[in-house]
Amino acid sequence: MAYSTLLFDVTDGVARITINRPDKLNALNATVMRELGEVVAQVETEQAIRGVLLTGAGSKAFVAGADITELASQGPVDGKARAQLGQSVFRRLERCGKPVVAAVNGFALGGGCELAMACHLRVASENAKFGQPEVKLGIGPGYGGTVRLPRLIGKGRALEMLLTGEMIDAAEAQRIGLVNRVVPADRLLAEAEALLRTILANGPLAVRFVIEAVDAGLELSVEDGLLLEANHFGLLSATADMREGTTAFTEKRKAVFTGG
Ligand code: COA
Repeated sequence: MAYSTLLFDVTDGVARITINRPDKLNALNATVMRELGEVVAQVETEQAIRGVLLTGAGSKAFVAGADITELASQGPVDGKARAQLGQSVFRRLERCGKPVVAAVNGFALGGGCELAMACHLRVASENAKFGQPEVKLGIGPGYGGTVRLPRLIGKGRALEMLLTGEMIDAAEAQRIGLVNRVVPADRLLAEAEALLRTILANGPLAVRFVIEAVDAGLELSVEDGLLLEANHFGLLSATADMREGTTAFTEKRKAVFTGG
């Protein structure tokens, strides 16, 4: 499928999605959001895609937020619709069943920070900056910032970012758990891909179920979360990949998983 605002390619199981509006710091306008929805559907259904690397074009920005020129003319009804559309696209990405790593190559502000948080892991370049500056525009986050940020970094730190609207640098983002790794800019894509490929070397169903259990488990009681985990454990015990993984260990060789 061809996209006008995204670059998309698949190499050896890894889909690389690049938001491609560098002259507007990759701001999320209506076309980007529609195309992101389409590409997520493609990721979900294409068997050849085993994991996703998400980044922004250029050296300055991952995504500098929702497109403010579009926000400027919205009213309450289309404003709510815009938020719900964005929320559903990001949620679908988070639940696509395949690991998604954000390679944050610069500003990740507003919707950009929210998009990075909807990915499972975040690798940032040393020049990356994170923030939720919506309050400076007289609005609040609309694509999940008030929901995912406190879950990732805790309520107090999240409120500080959400209420001040100030940016934090990559080192601080790593310190508070907003990003997993910080690397030099020229190593960003390679390091993010290496992290993703480490995950892809594991059993695909196991990876899928772990993502699902953590995603759902955060919202469940301890008892219900443990039950979900045990159910997954039982289900995975019925897979060929579990036999292969355990057999490979006893035979002192590397496991070759098929996803079955
Ligand atoms: N929406 C629309 N356009 C945006 C944008 C956004 N969120 N962020 C940047 N752009 C555009 C700028 O308008 C500018 O376009 P122009 O060249 O046609 O004037 C271009 O991208 C480059 O940005 P510029 O502001 O000139 O770069 P800078 O280095 O001076 O500043 C930022 C970088 C990120 C600090 C600044 O662009 C900014 O504050 N952006 C908005 C961030 C924001 O509030 N996001 C949340 C939105 S809810």
